[in-house]
Amino acid sequence: MSKVAIIGAGNVGGFAAAWIAGLDVADVVLIDKNDGLARGKAMDINDSLYILGSNRWVWGGSDYSLIDGADIVVITAGVARKPGMDREDLLKINKEIVKDIIEKAKGLVADDAAWVFVTNPLDAITEFGYSLLGIDRHKVMGMGVNLDTSRMVNQIAESLGVARTSISAMVVGKHGKGMIPLVDDISVSGMAVSLDEEIKGEIRERTVNRGAEIVACFGTGSAYVAPGAGIYQVVRHLLSGDGSVLPLSVPLEGERGISGECTGVPVVLGRLCWEKVLE
Ligand code: NAI
Ligand code: 2OP
Repeated sequence: MSKVAIIGAGNVGGFAAAWIAGLDVADVVLIDKNDGLARGKAMDINDSLYILGSNRWVWGGSDYSLIDGADIVVITAGVARKPGMDREDLLKINKEIVKDIIEKAKGLVADDAAWVFVTNPLDAITEFGYSLLGIDRHKVMGMGVNLDTSRMVNQIAESLGVARTSISAMVVGKHGKGMIPLVDDISVSGMAVSLDEEIKGEIRERTVNRGAEIVACFGTGSAYVAPGAGIYQVVRHLLSGDGSVLPLSVPLEGERGISGECTGVPVVLGRLCWEKVLE
């Protein structure tokens, strides 16, 4: 039975656990420095699973021994963005949090575990996590531009008036201002679509600003339902190893002319790893 450890039982971690267990993908352990929050969320999610028709279980607490043997570690602990705050402002404090977590978790999880970073600023945190872990780079990835892709698809669906599920599109680059919505490579049911420059500009801008738009609406905290779904998507394909292609932030060593940094590129996912960058 597959086990996914999510460290950080806040908004994003909680929703990720609910999607993963509720959609019958894996059992989940939610860890947080706030023991009661993690335990309470686990109970609440478990109480939804009969209704949803899932036999998975979620456990929660602050005790890291719960993650023993986990196949995937997802790190969602950290400080969320507040209005006016840039993702880069978060780097210093979130690095300390991620360091603390890796030190506690590394010796407990399965030897072949995959590590998925979510904490912002995403690409810098993934790079930092990779440097601390010292493991095969194919086991390390950051969830961000697959979420941005889903946001972009909504903009395209609205512009074209077509179902989002018939759209194929992708965002690459950094999860933040450096993201690159590929507005020249959109297709609908396999047919290339060329949009006029104004519409492309609108889609690009609304995609890049979507996270901040949600932060401004909330007034405090940032998006968590779609980010939780983004984690579910990565976990599902890592467990099935079905060769799906997702844009994720990975440590690059020369692919696409980039070395020594993490950035979002399309990768082919195998079981508990990304196998290669789609060049
Ligand atoms: P949140 O504040 O709801 O949850 C964060 C949780 O981390 C809290 O429950 C807190 O107790 C816990 N935590 C803090 N330090 C810890 C430690 N040392 N050990 C264990 N737990 C610890 O925040 P939210 O909304 O869940 O966001 C979490 C992170 O995810 C933020 O950095 C946010 O910017 C990022 N994020 C990234 C996205 C992406 O696409 N990569 C999308 C959305 C959010
Ligand atoms: C988002 O894009 C804050 O990274 C988070 O919503």
